[in-house]
Amino acid sequence: MAEHDALIAAARTAREHAHAPYSNFRVGAAVRAKSGRIFTGCNVENATYGLTLCAERVAIFKAISEGERGFDSVAVVTDTDSLTPPCGACRQIIWEFCGDAHVVLANLKGKVELHRMSALFPKPFDQSFL
Ligand code: THU
Repeated sequence: MAEHDALIAAARTAREHAHAPYSNFRVGAAVRAKSGRIFTGCNVENATYGLTLCAERVAIFKAISEGERGFDSVAVVTDTDSLTPPCGACRQIIWEFCGDAHVVLANLKGKVELHRMSALFPKPFDQSFL
């Protein structure tokens, strides 16, 4: 668990930058590259609603756009008693870039759950089918 503390802390800080005026549901995410670098994201909503980007995708796309490849863990932090798992769209993106990564769910009170992508996203469609 302690090995994930830095990732959770980074996601928690990113959450403070959430642009969530429509849902008021603020999410922070952080992804750790195999290089050790951590990239963060927050959810970014839009008045058209459908253009909203989740925190997980923002973090991953930031990392990809900076040339990073290969990730081992993703953290998601919200202020909810029931911890927030990645949505379906984010699971597809996490699988694409992180494969069977550790998924660390946490809240502001210190509750933490550990999952693996293969459990959260069984039978994915990926490059192996192409
Ligand atoms: N959201 C995330 O950023 N990540 C998740 O894992 C779940 C949902 C965002 C999208 C939207 O801005 C708000 O939370 C409510 O759905």
